[in-house]
Order: sequence, then C-alpha cells, then structure tokens
Amino acid sequence: MAGRYQVLDELDETTASALREDIAKRGVLVPIDVDEDGNVLDGHHRKRFADELGLDCPEIIRSGLTEEGKVEHALLMNLLRRHLGPVEWAHAFRRLAEARGIRLGTQGRQGGKTDSVAVFAAELGVAPRTARRRLRLADRLADHPDLAARVDRGDLDATRAETLARERAFEQRRAEADPPPVTRLGSGIEVHHGRFQEVLAQIEDDSVDLVLTDPPWQWDVETLDLWDDLGEFCSRVLRPGRALVAYSGSGCLAAAIDRLSSHLDYFWAGALILPGRHNEVKAVMARDSSTPIVFFSKGRYRPRHWFINSLSSPGAEKDAHPWQKPLGNVAYYLECFSEPGELVCDPFLGGGTTAVAAQQKGRRFIGSDIDPGAVEVTRQRLEGSEEGPRPLLSMEQREEEP
Ligand SMILES: C[S@@+](CC[C@H](N)C(=O)[O-])C[C@H]1O[C@@H](n2cnc3c(N)ncnc32)[C@H](O)[C@@H]1O
Repeated sequence: MAGRYQVLDELDETTASALREDIAKRGVLVPIDVDEDGNVLDGHHRKRFADELGLDCPEIIRSGLTEEGKVEHALLMNLLRRHLGPVEWAHAFRRLAEARGIRLGTQGRQGGKTDSVAVFAAELGVAPRTARRRLRLADRLADHPDLAARVDRGDLDATRAETLARERAFEQRRAEADPPPVTRLGSGIEVHHGRFQEVLAQIEDDSVDLVLTDPPWQWDVETLDLWDDLGEFCSRVLRPGRALVAYSGSGCLAAAIDRLSSHLDYFWAGALILPGRHNEVKAVMARDSSTPIVFFSKGRYRPRHWFINSLSSPGAEKDAHPWQKPLGNVAYYLECFSEPGELVCDPFLGGGTTAVAAQQKGRRFIGSDIDPGAVEVTRQRLEGSEEGPRPLLSMEQREEEP
C-alpha cells in the first residue's frame, strides 16, 4: 500500500527487485527520511524491503515541516535521487513547482532571472533546456499515457512517441471530418476536397502565378506518378515564366526531378534545414536533417526577386498535420515568387500551410486535398487563425538551437 507521502508511482518490477537484492546484500546504505511521527517522507521502498528482510533501516527525522512542506520534501528527494523517466520527471517537477506556488511556462526560450523553469531546474542540477524539453514532452503525451510509459521505460524514443501522438490526434480528426466539396472564403481563398487531378481541373490555363506545394514523399509507383500529374498540371495552369516550388524527399528526389522535367523547366534546388533530432533512415544509414526543395518553371524562368535556396526552420510545427511545413519557410517562398493579389495554388494542402501563408500575405489562393482531415484542419486554420510565422533562422542561430 502506498504511504501517506508516497508522491510518485511504485518502482517498476525490475528496479524494485534490483533494490531489494542490493539491500539484502549490503543493507540500507542511504537513510530514509521520516517526520516526527515516523511517517516515511522519502525511502518507502528501502523501508519496505528492510522490514521484509528483517534488517535495520537508518532514519533521519525531518521535524517541523508543515503538511505541504512534507509533500514538497518528498517530491524534491525523488527528483534529486530517483532515476525517473523524462515524463515522470516532468510530472514530479510540475507538482513540486505547484507545491511552491511557482507557475511554469515551457514556451520559447526565456532565460534570465524571471525564467522560473531555468531557476528551478538549476536548483535540481538539471539543464534548463532538458527540463523544458521534458515538460514539453509530458504536455504532448498528456493524452497518451501508454506512450508516456513506454518512453519512461526506455522502450520508445521520445521523438517517435511525439510523432505517434500527433498521428493519433490527426486520425481522430480525420474520423470526425466531413468537409464540403468546396470552401470559399472572402479575399479569394478557395479550398477543394478531392483529388487535385479532378477538383482543380476547372482552373483556367495560364492563370496561376505560383504553385507552392509539398506532395507526399513515399517511394511507391502511385505516389511517384503524382509528380507526373503535378508537372502536367503546372504546365497547363501556370502563367509562362512562373514557378513551381515543391518540397520533396531525399529518397524520391531523383524521381521527382525526372518526372517534373518531362513537363517543366528545372531552374534550381534548395533545402529546408530541419532542427532537432535527425530522422534516421536505416536502409541507407542516413541521418536526415533537411527536406529538399525543387524549383521548376513553365518555360524559361523569369526572375523578379532574389531568394535564398536553403533556410533553417526554428522548430518543427506539427500541430495541424503530421507532415506540416513551417509557416515562416512557406511564407518566405510565397513572397519571393508571387506578388500581392496574385493567384497561388497548392494541390496538396495537408495542414493548409500554403493557404494560411497566402491569406496572411494577401494572395488569392486555390488548393485541394484528398484527405477530409486535411481539408477540415485547413478550413479551421483559415477561418480562425491569427498564427504568425516563426522567424527564419540564419545558420549561426541554428547552431544554438536544441
Ligand atoms: C506532405 S502533405 C502536405 C503537408 C503540408 N505542406 C503542410 O504544411 O501541412 C501531402 C498531402 O497531399 C495529400 N494528397 C495526396 N494525394 C493527393 C491527390 N491526388 N490530390 C490531392 N491531395 C492529395 C495528402 O492527403 C496529404 O495531406
């Protein structure tokens, strides 16, 4: 039975039996903490195993603590000593902060004296960045205790767990979504539900000023054929000299360039540099830290603005869609390759990032997605969003990012 001040869950079976064995061999080496009435504040497992084995259990009496003070002491000792998984640690950290009346924020980098996470984490000997990462992870896995438990046990990588949680959330959205075939918003924004090959067939020839898109990147015949269809579509709807800017995947890049080249003129390549942990591709032992971008045009490209071909993203933005691209990056290319009032098209909406960028930058827009969940989330973002693009990062700033 859990003791009065046993603030965290029981140890898992393997850790508990290792501790029991150690106590049987060497006795209780670290004294437990008790209050003046003998209630255990810290060391419930040590006490239980010592009692079971008929061994002495050294005690330190912590007298004069209030009820809250006892809970706080118990949490602090657990955070300092016990080997907690990152999510368990974050929960204990939050509870201890609450017990002390500290409000924790995890958004952004704060730093300085007022940064409660940094100050409090330093007190526990944990780097503020690590503390913030653990708190964010716990938030993201809050509705997925099974994934959190697997991360804490070390059975599941934290990044992968976050991806799984996002995919589940999107699945749920998809199951509930029932968007109309066409959504028209003021200021010339149009979102279609269906295969772009059909639902965007009504777009007039030579009428689109920019196609800015992100097709699926899987390596199968059907998906690769999409690049052919995209090339054919662009060669019809783009105005002469105007661009297709498409995010691609490293694996399908050669095929994408090959397919698009049958319909359009290649003029440049670039990349979106991704922050944080790299996606490991075991088949070729590559640690993928970027997404290629290809630049094609209908006929010879007629440049109007300078553009930087490779930029870093300050952080993953995946709240709307599992394959979402950073709004700042998408908005940058939208502004480099189109003018206010012009028509921008994205046949593969996903979370609707291009649509949101077009809306914010005063372009007309037409787009589509085959997936009802993607259309629904795009509609929601367009109808309600005040979201701003996060700043683009230079290479030097990127070095400092987690
Ligand atoms: C990589 S995602 C786009 C992500 C998007 N850039 C974002 O920022 O959220 C590709 C999208 O293409 C959609 N799709 C795949 N085939 C399609 C087709 N034939 N017509 C329209 N959409 C399609 C998928 O449903 C998926 O949502």
